[in-house]
Amino acid sequence: MEEMVMAFGGIYAGRRVLVTGHTGFKGGWLCLWLKQLGARVTGYSLEAPTVPGVRELFARESIGSETIGDIRDLDRLSRAVAECKPEIIFHLAAQPLVRRSYQVPVETVAVNVLGTAHILEAARHAAPGAAVVVVTTDKCYENLGFEQACHENDPLGGHDVYSASKAAAELVAQSWRRSFSSSREGLGPVATVRAGNVIGGGDYAEDRILPDLVRALIAGKPLKVRNPAAVRPWQHVLDCLGGYLVVGMRLIIEGRDSPACSAFNFGPAAGSWRTVEDLVTTFLHHWPGAWEAEDNTGQPHEARFLHLSTEKAADVLGWKPVWDFEQSVGITADWYRARHAMPGPDMLRASVEQIAAFMQDAVSQGSGWAR
Ligand SMILES: NC(=O)c1ccc[n+]([C@@H]2O[C@H](COP(=O)([O-])OP(=O)(O)OC[C@H]3O[C@@H](n4cnc5c(N)ncnc54)[C@H](O)[C@@H]3O)[C@@H](O)[C@H]2O)c1
Repeated sequence: MEEMVMAFGGIYAGRRVLVTGHTGFKGGWLCLWLKQLGARVTGYSLEAPTVPGVRELFARESIGSETIGDIRDLDRLSRAVAECKPEIIFHLAAQPLVRRSYQVPVETVAVNVLGTAHILEAARHAAPGAAVVVVTTDKCYENLGFEQACHENDPLGGHDVYSASKAAAELVAQSWRRSFSSSREGLGPVATVRAGNVIGGGDYAEDRILPDLVRALIAGKPLKVRNPAAVRPWQHVLDCLGGYLVVGMRLIIEGRDSPACSAFNFGPAAGSWRTVEDLVTTFLHHWPGAWEAEDNTGQPHEARFLHLSTEKAADVLGWKPVWDFEQSVGITADWYRARHAMPGPDMLRASVEQIAAFMQDAVSQGSGWAR
């Protein structure tokens, strides 16, 4: 524990941190990790999007105080920010699902675009100078199906409403940074972070491949897989969150002039750009079960090939992924198996141990932030 507090230059120890979306999968893991780093964590979001989830496992250990509120409610959000007086904000609250954005397109835009404007506006007025890390996605790029990796300066776009809403959130963050990020205007340093398809224990979202697989395994049924040949940049949630924490560290230390006040991709090494079929079969080595391909006719559009360049994160931040594809899938399967197929597991402890193991591996691989 003592060693963990010293990671990221010890910058999070005693620090007031606000996490929006703290009741969700990535937000829950981020709060748990921040707590291990000694931060004073406050949350702002709606109730947990799924039960089960990680909230019921992690919240008591990781959150100091919270507001259950809507990111579209600027007054309530501003009051929560004023009360917490965060030194840094990680903004993860969102409608995060592509397929749901076909059902609730306007809500997706309101939560993801207006919500981003609201957190920046609340930070500017109620927590002047606080750093803000805005979480978007690799889907914010105009994905033309080419095999080249997307770089941070590539055109933004998005075929579906979710992707477009995150591209718009990128533009909102950029415009707030350009317009209001000076000591006179109040907004502190702002960065945006774009990650790929994240896997890890505790995700139970609808229409995501591993949560669907876990539900099928628990039910003893074969999983129907829509796009087995689709290639995705699979990345463990701790690798992705480690990148966010490095960006946050740099914003806190270097302020508005930091080269980290920009956009960053966080994706896995090239060996983890694998098909959905690879993901499913690798998971099933750890927790045996069956799958079958499903007829895809009439399904909403899904981007075919998508991968990210992480050169900028390596050059500017000294960041690189820690866990490879096999480790990421194996550790994820271990987590779900412990929760659903073993008697009486202590999942909070198991999760803290996964964070400690990740950091140990980062130290062994020479990641400067982990020491
Ligand atoms: N999981 C992935 O593979 C992935 C990949 C790329 C980007 N992201 C992004 O990461 C972030 C977190 O995603 P996740 O996978 O943890 O999703 P999640 O659904 O588990 O969590 C979403 C969080 O947002 C909150 N929320 C939703 N609508 C809200 C609203 N109107 N007001 C306040 N809070 C609201 C939920 O309560 C929850 O806490 C999102 O911004 C998502 O777009 C996720």
